[in-house]
Amino acid sequence: TAVDEYMEAHLHAPSRNKYHEALEFTRSNSSAKGLKDIAVFAGQGKMLALQIKLTGAKNVLEVGTLGGYSAIWMATASDDVKITTVEVNAETKAVAEENIAHAGLSDRISVLLGPGVEVLPKLVEEVKSGTRQPFDFAFIDADKQNNLNYFNYTMQMIKPNSLIYVDNVVRRGQVVDPVAIREDPNIQGTRRLIEAVGKDDRVDAVVIQTVGGKNYDGFLQALVK
Ligand code: DHB
Ligand code: MG
Repeated sequence: TAVDEYMEAHLHAPSRNKYHEALEFTRSNSSAKGLKDIAVFAGQGKMLALQIKLTGAKNVLEVGTLGGYSAIWMATASDDVKITTVEVNAETKAVAEENIAHAGLSDRISVLLGPGVEVLPKLVEEVKSGTRQPFDFAFIDADKQNNLNYFNYTMQMIKPNSLIYVDNVVRRGQVVDPVAIREDPNIQGTRRLIEAVGKDDRVDAVVIQTVGGKNYDGFLQALVK
């Protein structure tokens, strides 16, 4: 955590990020409204934004909005990036929309209500019928049991040469802990994803382990061929 604080003090100068205040507001307002404190940490949010900038992605899909913290980070990549983000809980969505409005991003971040396994198939249909543009970046960070479902839906509506990120694939090492493998549906969901991705010729993937204020965890990064 001290390392995160040191890095943020030097690499996240408020004066260099016009959304700094909005991101801080999002954290404090989300906490005040009772949301769980499980959003990505600032360095992870910024890394997603830099990847979006680097790849020139403009149409981002997110599964798991929570308070909108990561969506707002991703929207900082450029003024013409749009985010479509899916949230299962109506009260949580309302908090996210408050945070997104406070950031002045209501025109670029759209929060869709419903379980990912219901909303994503509709998005797939819209992309297939041409009423919605295909996505060119995705961040999956919702219930881990459905990680593979979300990944497979995403694969049906993302352009070649895009990146798919999945959060929490290490979980303090639980991903290889025999008890968690036997008993934790989240870990089982993550392992189903990892093992399917490894056999999936449509993508090439790697996991980056992370450590810091949000404990020890990791991101899966899959490049769609
Ligand atoms: C949890 C979920 C997350 O997406 C995360 O980053 C950390 C924790 C959770 O459900 O506990
Ligand atoms: Mg997460």
